[in-house]
Amino acid sequence: MKYLKAAKKNAENVKKQILKLGLLDKSRKIGFEENSVLFPLIDISNRRIKKYIEKSIMRKTELIDRENRNRTLRSNAERINRIFEKYKTGLARGYDILGNIAIIKSELDKKEEIKVAEEILNFNPQVTTVVAQAGAVSGRYRLRKFRYVLGIKTFVSEYRESNCLFRFDIRKAFFSNRLSYERERINSQVKENENICVMFAGVGPFAIEIAKKHKSTNIVAIEMNKNAVGYMKDNINLNKSPNVKPILGNVRVRSKDYRDFADRIIVPMPKSSIKFLDQILEVSKKKAIVHIYVFGNRDTVLKETEQILKAHAKNNNYRVKILFERVVRPYSKNEVEIVVDYKIDKIPRSRRDSAAG
Ligand SMILES: C[S@@+](CC[C@H](N)C(=O)[O-])C[C@H]1O[C@@H](n2cnc3c(N)ncnc32)[C@H](O)[C@@H]1O
Repeated sequence: MKYLKAAKKNAENVKKQILKLGLLDKSRKIGFEENSVLFPLIDISNRRIKKYIEKSIMRKTELIDRENRNRTLRSNAERINRIFEKYKTGLARGYDILGNIAIIKSELDKKEEIKVAEEILNFNPQVTTVVAQAGAVSGRYRLRKFRYVLGIKTFVSEYRESNCLFRFDIRKAFFSNRLSYERERINSQVKENENICVMFAGVGPFAIEIAKKHKSTNIVAIEMNKNAVGYMKDNINLNKSPNVKPILGNVRVRSKDYRDFADRIIVPMPKSSIKFLDQILEVSKKKAIVHIYVFGNRDTVLKETEQILKAHAKNNNYRVKILFERVVRPYSKNEVEIVVDYKIDKIPRSRRDSAAG
């Protein structure tokens, strides 16, 4: 069992700091030894947290270990699972890890939340902060509220994916690690020298991962959340991907500046992508590939999306060919997120026929 030993004269200050970090184990008594105070710490074996303690408060303290022989040796994972088992409610359960930040998704009782957070910190050495979701994703910027739970108090995540590093405040910009496979899947289809338009680009994951792997691509990334664009600019620098051009603004307006620009268009705004088919057509070259994400009823959304795409093509005199579609993830009890890859062909039928003949 861990204690932080501090000289009595420093005790108040040390106590403040460990309280701020949420590291004081309030279920055990503070001890006293001659001129020292022993603060019981929650059971943290996380090396980075230890380093943080060493750097910020250890100069005048000593970390001491006292074995508790009665402790049962159940694995952290088991302990976490046992707590979450009680709270299984539909999809909202468990926790996610975004680099240094773990996000508890279930609503837990306060004591159990701290217990889970301790276990998460011990079990995942890269995690130094635990927060909890405090609401649903909402609004035009698709943001969510979070509540600090334990560890180093920050909401800035440093998250690695496909050889890239992304830094962003999880309260100020949308990010989903659930799309990592999709980003990889699309990236593997990209050809050198493509012009690509990423609409609804967030902090830049689709654009930057492609740009880093395919240096000859020319990518515009349109996003209306000023904070997200700020982080996107930082991430472009962090990942040395100057072939991404961040554009702050509304897709509805800014796509006009990129008429006939794109060989490939990525549309990751499942809530309303389908309302931007005019803009997709506008930025598309004569021929282009589109990857569009859509929310809808699990039984009908694929068919409905195909129908909407075909109707739009018919009304706007272009051809659409569905290349691929799949369910990306469940979204709510009856809803899923899907992706449809399709090809736009704006060449009029008569010209296409004469070219072929
Ligand atoms: C679901 S998030 C996707 C973010 C990013 N592509 C990702 O995968 O992490 C949708 C993003 O679109 C932005 N957005 C919503 N409506 C927009 C619009 N009309 N024009 C530009 N950006 C918009 C939101 O601010 C949000 O960052």
